[in-house]
Amino acid sequence: LHSPIGAAALAVGIFIADTTTDLEIAVGVLYVVVVLISTRFYQKRGVMFVSAVCMGLTIISYFLTPSGNPTAGLINCIISVAAIGAVTYLVLRIESMDAAMHEAREQLAHLARVSSLGELTATIAQEVTQPLAGLVSSGSACLRWLANQPPNIESATESIRRMIRDANRASEVVGRVRSLAKMTPPQKVLLNINETVEETLVLKRVEVLQNRILLRTQLSNKMPLVSADRIQLQQVILNLIMNAIEAVSALSDGPRGLLVSTTDDKTGDVLLTVADTGPGLDPAKLDEIFDAFYTTKREGVGMGLVVSRSIIEAHGGRIWATPNQPRGAIFQFTLPVSREDAS
Ligand SMILES: Nc1ncnc2c1ncn2[C@@H]1O[C@H](COP(=O)(O)OP(=O)(O)OP(=O)(O)O)[C@@H](O)[C@H]1O
Ligand SMILES: [Mg+2]
Repeated sequence: LHSPIGAAALAVGIFIADTTTDLEIAVGVLYVVVVLISTRFYQKRGVMFVSAVCMGLTIISYFLTPSGNPTAGLINCIISVAAIGAVTYLVLRIESMDAAMHEAREQLAHLARVSSLGELTATIAQEVTQPLAGLVSSGSACLRWLANQPPNIESATESIRRMIRDANRASEVVGRVRSLAKMTPPQKVLLNINETVEETLVLKRVEVLQNRILLRTQLSNKMPLVSADRIQLQQVILNLIMNAIEAVSALSDGPRGLLVSTTDDKTGDVLLTVADTGPGLDPAKLDEIFDAFYTTKREGVGMGLVVSRSIIEAHGGRIWATPNQPRGAIFQFTLPVSREDAS
């Protein structure tokens, strides 16, 4: 039943039962099942089409039925059509609510991402660059005023004032960042990393489907607990998964595979692996990709891996990349097992 063909077969069955029995079209109400099944395969228009076909079949059955009570048949026929219509309406409402909810979730994840270190660093870089450039140009102007015969002390003094103002601005920016960083210390809790992986994958479910990516997960069922900030960890996993999705989506052919696995490392660490079958990494660039602003993407910022590394290291772990065989990239990180759990 869970296929378009199954649904069509059910519709035909209902049609035959309605037309050949003298149950006064009472079977017709079962078309709602066909409509419900169709929502799994079709978008809004498709479901509405299926629903219209079911209504049409109900009415045709009414006219084709050779026996039975015509009045009761007519009433049942109207009830069936109304039920099909109502179910279609409700199911489409639920679907659109579901889509809205998914979008809201995505936005939230995006928000968490852009408000994170990545965007922050880009902003800081920009805000500090401006006063630094000002310092340099005021400095050279000052030298020129002093080199004049006679030296133009007044203008030189003005340049130095500007330099002091710019220097203050730069240190103000740095101060603001410091206080910001202090306000959000990691909220460490004891958690099972498998749960975090699953929470994160839910956020990317639609993208995985849309890009026809074969996602496999291998989550070891005896994972020790780690002490970590849930949101920060989600962020790291999200960054790795997004990079992998972007990598495999860039391919026009070949398998689009994505594997997320967790294991209990021999050394007592927790090991998470995100492997993809994308174009892979240049072996010479394995370290460079973790540098700030290193990106090969048009829309990329080049902060995803920087943020991920800083989070993992703040948790006492390590993160690295290796080539996948026969092609693709593997990103892995370790986290130390919480002492409470180890003991
Ligand atoms: N799974 C992967 N396969 C191939 N290359 C990758 C993969 N993950 C990362 N890279 C390379 O590393 C670079 C840096 O990744 P990073 O996540 O830091 O930045 P980004 O994805 O380019 O931009 P953003 O800041 O938006 O995440 C990428 O531009 C890409 O060249
Ligand atoms: Mg990225």
